[in-house]
Order: sequence, then C-alpha cells, then structure tokens
Amino acid sequence: MWNKESLHKLIQSKLSNYNLIVVANREPYIHRHVDEEIECQRPASGMASALDPIMRACGGTWVGHGGGDADRETVDERDRVRVPPEDPTYTLRRVWLSKKEEEGYYHGLSNEGLWPLCHVVFTRPVFELKHWEMYKKVNKKFADAVIEEAGDVPTFVFIQDYHFALMPRMLKQMNPNLIVAQFWHIPWPNRETFQAFPWKEELLDGLLGNDLLGFHLRYHCQNFLDTVDRGIEAMVNQEQSEVTRGGKTTLVRPFPISIDFESHEKRAKSAEVDDKIRKFNRYFKPGKRLVGVGIERIDYTKGIPERLRAVDRMLEKNPEYVDKFIFIQVGVPSRGHIDAYKKIDDEIDRIVEEVNWKWGTETWKPIHYAKRHFSTEEMMALHRMAHFFIVSSLHDGMNLVSKEYVASRFDGDGMLILSSFAGASRELSDAILVNPFSIDELADAIRQAIETPEEERRKRMQKLRAAVAENNIYRWAGKIISALLKFDFPESM
Ligand code: F6P
Repeated sequence: MWNKESLHKLIQSKLSNYNLIVVANREPYIHRHVDEEIECQRPASGMASALDPIMRACGGTWVGHGGGDADRETVDERDRVRVPPEDPTYTLRRVWLSKKEEEGYYHGLSNEGLWPLCHVVFTRPVFELKHWEMYKKVNKKFADAVIEEAGDVPTFVFIQDYHFALMPRMLKQMNPNLIVAQFWHIPWPNRETFQAFPWKEELLDGLLGNDLLGFHLRYHCQNFLDTVDRGIEAMVNQEQSEVTRGGKTTLVRPFPISIDFESHEKRAKSAEVDDKIRKFNRYFKPGKRLVGVGIERIDYTKGIPERLRAVDRMLEKNPEYVDKFIFIQVGVPSRGHIDAYKKIDDEIDRIVEEVNWKWGTETWKPIHYAKRHFSTEEMMALHRMAHFFIVSSLHDGMNLVSKEYVASRFDGDGMLILSSFAGASRELSDAILVNPFSIDELADAIRQAIETPEEERRKRMQKLRAAVAENNIYRWAGKIISALLKFDFPESM
C-alpha cells in the first residue's frame, strides 16, 4: 500500500540527486487582494489539489501561470515564492502572461478548443488560428522557464494537461538530456473526433516529445494510440503501448489519479470543519430534512442542469418527498470569459429559480445554490452533511470530487450517486452509477439513495473508502516516478 512515507522513501533513495519540475497552467497557491489584505487561496482544481501533496513530499519546483492579482507582490526578483505558506517545502515559479496571451492560449485554444474536443459533450469546439499561434507562443514561454529552472542538473520534467501539448518536443529540442513526462488530466477522444482538430500533426508531434505520456484510463491510452496510428507518421506498438517517431519512443500508460486519503480524512475530522457544519446548519436550516450536495466548478461537462432537473423530476414522481430534503449545489465560477460558460451559468440560475418557484413554500425550497469559491474545510463540512452526494459529469477524465466525498465520510455513512461517464466510476463501482443524460434515471437514483437502508449504505461506503484509501495519490505518483526512473540520464551528466 502506497502512502506518504513510502513515496518519501522512494524519492529519497532514488530521486535525491535529481531535480523535479512540475509544469501546470494552474498554480497551487494564488495570492489575491481581499479587503485590503493579501490572501493566499487554493484554486478549485482537482489537478492542483492532487499534485500539491506530491510536491510537498518531493520538494522541487512548480512552474505555473501567476494569475492572482497579488501574485507579483509575493514573489522574489526571480519570480519565485516558497509554498505552502504555512510550511514552505517547495518552490513556485510564476510565469506572467499578458491578457492577449491568456486569451489566445488559455481561454481560446485550451478551453474553447481542446476542452470540448476531448470531452465530447455536444458543445462545439472553437478553433481559431490566432489562438493556436498564441498557444505555441505560450508553450515556448513556459518551456523557456523550465529550461532556466533545470540548469544543467539531471532533471525530470512532469507536465500537466492539455495546456502544454507542444512543450515536450520543445523541451527535448532545447535540452535533450531532460527526461520528460506528461499527464493528460482530461479524456482523450476517439480518433474520428480528433480528426476535427486543424493542427493535429503538430499537436501529436509535440506530445510524442514525451518519454512517458499518462492518461487516467486504458481506454484513453487506446484512443490516443489509435489517433496516432491514423494521424501521423509513427510506429505504434499496441502490445507494448508505445509509439516510436523519428527514432524516439514514447510510453503510453494509464495512471488513475486520486487524492491524499489519509490527510484528507484527518482534516475532515478537524474542529474547523465541525465549526463550518454548525455555520451551514444555521445558514441552510435543513432541520430534520435530509441533505443532498453537489460541488463543482461551473462547467458544462459537469451535468449540473441535469442534476437540478432530476431534483425536480424526483419531486414530480415522489411528491411525498416535498419538504423532506434540501439539495445544496456549490458552483465555483470558472472560465467566465467563454461564451459556453456564460450560457451554462445562466442556464443553472434559471433552473434553480424555476424549480424553487415550482416547489418552494414559505419555509422551504428544494435547491440552495451557492455560487462562490469554497474553502477546503467548507467543502468537507458539506461532504459530512450530505446524506447523498451527486457527481453527474457528462464526461470526466477521473473526477476527484467523488473521491473527496468518500474520504470525508469517516463516519462510514452517506451515499454517492456517480456518473458512469466519470473515470472514477471504474474504481467506485459501489456508488449508485447513473447515466446523467437520463433525467429519470438520475431522479430514481436520488430516491434510491434516500431510501437505502443504513446497513447497505455503510457496506457500500466501506468498500468505496477502501478503494480510495488504497488507490491514493501516493500510489499514482509512486507508479509514475517508478516508470520515470527506468529512463537513464546520459552518462555525461
Ligand atoms: O483537471 C482538468 C483541469 O483543466 C485542470 O488542469 C485544471 O486546473 C482544472 O481542470 C480546473 O480548470 P482551470 O484551471 O481552467 O480553472
């Protein structure tokens, strides 16, 4: 069983002579001005929460976009700040982007282009040449920062996500001695879908600069291999799950990501979380009613409208449940510059209003919608309050929110309703698995969750918790680091 200590041991015995650089667009700590003070916040990003404990264990450097309005005030002259603020163990190197760069690379190519292309949830991707040009420019900008951080020490570079598909090739060209790996946190679509991407050869060539390329699921690896097979000149070895192009081989492997189960559980037991529960009980006033919860960024892949409509359908089908439960939905504002996000935001507001108007009484409404950033403790408090928790993603690479809910339930109770289109459903098969496109199925799942007897709830939760405890973030990192250690640095280094 992997844990913090075993990962530490691996790192100390095998990695201590090397540099580790993580590159991710989203930084793990953001400095913002709040009420004339500078506040250090954690972003709403499963990726950032998953990698932070690994960086704490390994030290090293995280290269990320400095996106907070107080970020520049908190770095040194080399754009670095030590984090986490309460116990600094690693370095955050911030890269600055102009509005134009952010627009083209982040909002444009990454989130209007690659995000919908890879998720395939009927939101049409937008591909603009000017976004692609900016994407290339920003990939180079981050690559320059990595090269500077690496110096001439043997260095492993671990790139995160679809924001940097071109960077692996750039890095290898600038410094062939680096060992480069990348993890693609979102799904990889089937090869027909990927055909729509106008610069496919360049993008695939960029990714094949990696020594190791990871996806959550074997299914995504297979989609990638098929895409390469059809899309670019390269030799695909299906059996070994690797691709060779221009004499260079890239291993393609599944590594299902997870969370730090132990420390999450410990924090969920804290007095601070107890306080938040008291605060929420005063605020939402559930009284004797059951509580359902959903927490995510406001994103059209998450199936938020579907689940709110399912609350409505559940009440239509089972009017005896009127005034018997409340559903708390947290929506963290996200990517608000993009039209598709503005649309989903409006749609959610409209549905909340409609459903509450239809069912609400003077003393009760079915949906409580909180549209703001929530702290980790606040989210844990909601996990602990939730008799049932809904994750209804229309498509999701993994979905760590579902694992966080399970880890917070140290009392062994609670029911998870989980989309079968979230990667997590492969491990969390003791949840109530649903097709979120079917509002009736979701509505029935809510009823099932409410009516499941305690003994069965506990049995299911026990199995869910065992799965997350075992397949934890240290296992994910340990497997990736072990795979990386099989690559040799050149003798001369
Ligand atoms: O996990 C996928 C991902 O895009 C991460 O890379 C990202 O940090 C998270 O979702 C949230 O998105 P964003 O960083 O664009 O707010």
